[in-house]
Amino acid sequence: MWEDLRPIGLNPRSGGYLRSPFTSAERECAAWYVDQATRRDLSIDEDGQGNKIAWWRPEGATGKGVLVGSHLDSVDDGGAFDGPLGVVSSFAAIDALRAGGFTPQRPVGVAMFVAEEGSRFGVACLGSRLATGLTDPDVARELRDGDGVFLLDAMASAGLDPRLGRSDLLDRVELFVELHVEQGRDLVDRGTEVAVASASWAHGRWRFDFTGQPNHAGTTRMEDRRDPMLAYAMTVLAANKQARLGEARATFGRVSVKPNATNAIPSQVTGWLDARGADAGLVTGLVDTIARQAGERAARDGTSLQVTSESTSPTVVFDCPLSSRLVDILGAPLIPTGAGHDAAILQLAGIPSAMLFVRNPTGVSHSPEEFAETADCLAGVDALTRVLRELSA
Ligand code: GLV
Ligand code: MN
Ligand code: MN
Repeated sequence: MWEDLRPIGLNPRSGGYLRSPFTSAERECAAWYVDQATRRDLSIDEDGQGNKIAWWRPEGATGKGVLVGSHLDSVDDGGAFDGPLGVVSSFAAIDALRAGGFTPQRPVGVAMFVAEEGSRFGVACLGSRLATGLTDPDVARELRDGDGVFLLDAMASAGLDPRLGRSDLLDRVELFVELHVEQGRDLVDRGTEVAVASASWAHGRWRFDFTGQPNHAGTTRMEDRRDPMLAYAMTVLAANKQARLGEARATFGRVSVKPNATNAIPSQVTGWLDARGADAGLVTGLVDTIARQAGERAARDGTSLQVTSESTSPTVVFDCPLSSRLVDILGAPLIPTGAGHDAAILQLAGIPSAMLFVRNPTGVSHSPEEFAETADCLAGVDALTRVLRELSA
């Protein structure tokens, strides 16, 4: 399975992946998922928005099901493991259960959620948010990508027949366990292959639009400029400083400049702030401070600032009884994460959810350097298999 996925969306120069939602590489991954499900005689439910669940429902398996799986999209130039490791491990765990002659008493499903990274339409976990009803379809209808393409048009051009909004896809799900590559070095430090997640930090995305006066780079005296790049530059440094002071995280990882010319003072600089912290109050306080400092600087420069919240997620503590059960089954440690996940969205929507993390020796993620040793991936499959055997018996 890993070899099948390896070339899809690969950037040969960087070694990273570009599997943006509803583009050809991500659709190839979706077709691979359907093929894997079909080969295993799993029956696929879908919600018209791209989210799918492939169900193993042997005779005698009744009631609501145990869901595993993850997502197959990537950030731009992301790693191979964030998302696909969970889907591949889920199919492999079903294979292991079948090879051991195990028949579940409850259905077992492998999920593929779309647009988890928020890389194209700006909203993280968009697929699971829509399926659970946490994102209003009217808001989603207005979402556009960087080229101005509406979400609905992107879905339609990928061959979907979109019906945006809460679907019944998850109505037959009792609980969700998402396996994921670790996105830090906690397990390296502990010398352990697999952990159970305790909580996902509060996080959000804010757009900072700095507006000034476009002018000539050579003829405009320094004191006459209204250059929005200055407040933007200061804001990036302020965000880093405030996050350090508050033991939080703040990143400007994306910027757009108009007109983006070497010999012109910009008319507008837009930067996107990703801010995270252990609790929502900490994040709100952090963003307020950054926005205030940015606004003060913009005013001093004769420029202006508008801040728009694009998406926010509260701290999500994963289901305690379920996570404790996983810890008991596996004897694995409990660790928190600063990343967002579909499992956190399902938990917010009232579906008991938990996560397993597989050691990443680089600790790096959202980058070509993201990695997991094969032996650790196999330990992850083994852990997921044991968990499924217990939870679906
Ligand atoms: C998703 O991986 C996120 O945390 O941004
Ligand atoms: Mn992920
Ligand atoms: Mn990710």
